[in-house]
Order: sequence, then C-alpha cells, then structure tokens
Amino acid sequence: MDAHHRRIFRLVNRLVQERDRHSDRETVAEAIGEMIKYSSDHLTAEESMLREIDFPGLDGHVQLHKAFRSSVGTMVLRSLESDPPSLGEVLEFLHNWWTNHILVEDMKYRDLALTSRGESP
Ligand SMILES: [Fe+2]
Ligand SMILES: [Fe+2]
Repeated sequence: MDAHHRRIFRLVNRLVQERDRHSDRETVAEAIGEMIKYSSDHLTAEESMLREIDFPGLDGHVQLHKAFRSSVGTMVLRSLESDPPSLGEVLEFLHNWWTNHILVEDMKYRDLALTSRGESP
C-alpha cells in the first residue's frame, strides 16, 4: 500500500503543478480523471487487504472511503451542472483529504498489515 500512497501523493503534486503552470482545462481534467480513477482502485484494493488481515477498524475505515467517494461524486456532478468547483477547491479537498487519510487513518492499520506479512512493524 505504501507504493500506492506514494503514487497518490505524486498525482496530487502533479495537479498542484498543473495549476501553477496554468495548464489548459483539458490537461487539468485529464490529471483529475487519472487521480480519481487511481484513488478508486486504491480504496478498493485497500479494503480487500483490510478484510484479509481482519483489521478491527474495517467498518469505520470503509465509511471514510465511502465519504471520499461521495464527495468526489458530488464534485463530478457539480462539474456537469451550473456550479462547477474551482480547481483550487478540488485541489484543496484532494490535498487535505489524502494527507490526513494516508498519514493519520491509514497508519492505524499499518502495524497489523506488516505483522500479517511476517514483517516486524
Ligand atoms: Fe490508503
Ligand atoms: Fe484508507
């Protein structure tokens, strides 16, 4: 999962760069699309792994992922309607959510995941 998390941080950083470069809408939309797709795959993979290791906080963790998916869904819907979120807003959300989620919430299963693989935490 660490490799996934590094990739997510890279995708978020790429979005920040695209913003700073004032990239065109298409480039930004593509970067956001890749971020959403990769995030979704990651959350699904992580949930399977947490089930495998019997993580006691599974239900709560899945709820956090669900809330993320729902926020992303709302942003996508708004983009299609009359109230599109600004790139700044999308970035702030993604940056804050992932930073907290990876550094705080995902850390809660880390020791168990390592121990389950026979590695010392
Ligand atoms: Fe994660
Ligand atoms: Fe997670």
